[in-house]
Amino acid sequence: MLKNIIKMGLQSIEEVFTFNRDYEAKVAETADHIRAQLGSLRPEFGITLGSGLGDIADAIEDATTISYADIPNFLVPTVEGHEGNLIFGNLEGIPVIGLSGRTHYYEYGDLPFNYGMLRTTFAVNVLADLGIANYFVTNAAGGLNQKFKVGDMMVLHSHIHNQPNPLLGEHRQFKRVDNGERVERFPPVSPTYDPELRKVLHAAGQEHRDHLHQGVYMGVTGPTYEAEAEARSFRDNADAVGMSTTGEVIVARGRGMRAVGMSCITNEISASGDNPANHDEVKRILESPEVRQRLTSTVQEFFRLYRAS
Ligand code: HPA
Repeated sequence: MLKNIIKMGLQSIEEVFTFNRDYEAKVAETADHIRAQLGSLRPEFGITLGSGLGDIADAIEDATTISYADIPNFLVPTVEGHEGNLIFGNLEGIPVIGLSGRTHYYEYGDLPFNYGMLRTTFAVNVLADLGIANYFVTNAAGGLNQKFKVGDMMVLHSHIHNQPNPLLGEHRQFKRVDNGERVERFPPVSPTYDPELRKVLHAAGQEHRDHLHQGVYMGVTGPTYEAEAEARSFRDNADAVGMSTTGEVIVARGRGMRAVGMSCITNEISASGDNPANHDEVKRILESPEVRQRLTSTVQEFFRLYRAS
């Protein structure tokens, strides 16, 4: 019995060790697998569809769906309410890859060799290996800004990465999408969210302008929601707080992709810092047809305007 447990433990340690050691090769293997199925499609955007954005997947035309379970080195999300499908096709005439469901740092953050962060950002590295120039990120977030209401949208202006950095450790051999050069040891991420794409997203949300904001996103590890004093201290520097996005965007920017991002506000964090949010409540907001329609129509309009620009 004890022997088996030790063996199992060593096996998984070896798995996380080799994932780190062979990371570039694993990213390349996954990209090759997806590339072989894309046919003549040359995606211009990768989009991570956070919770509540699943309807976007239905708006992708001529769509091919691949379950994460059928993609080498991809993991099926462990959290209920997060799907695991890659969908490629055309969104309002723009060739895209949609990632419905993401890995969060809190799922694997207990493991060594920066495994949690490497896992969290794996799909973005695959998008970059596929030569995709733009990364559109969406997420669910708690509203720190007192003007924000449940169901509102926030265009990400900048972020604070309050998790381990995905680029810690060995300087990897990855190439940039924009100029083919090796990713720098100390890559700048500013401007973090592309000013032009941000403008397009802001214009796309005008139909819902009473529910549209711009602000700073704080990315924390979770899985706990914030204590009162944490929320108050975050509010000094950020407008919304969530458990994803920032690591993905660091990788996207490091690899020379342009980033654009949008949060859906699922709960209001009060002036005192009370954050009685729970996962069921967050899920309920994201299942609301009104909120889903607002998010979906804004993303669709973004691609219409992008195409026209
Ligand atoms: N805090 C952190 N993550 C979240 C929240 C929150 O209030 N709401 C949705 N994701």
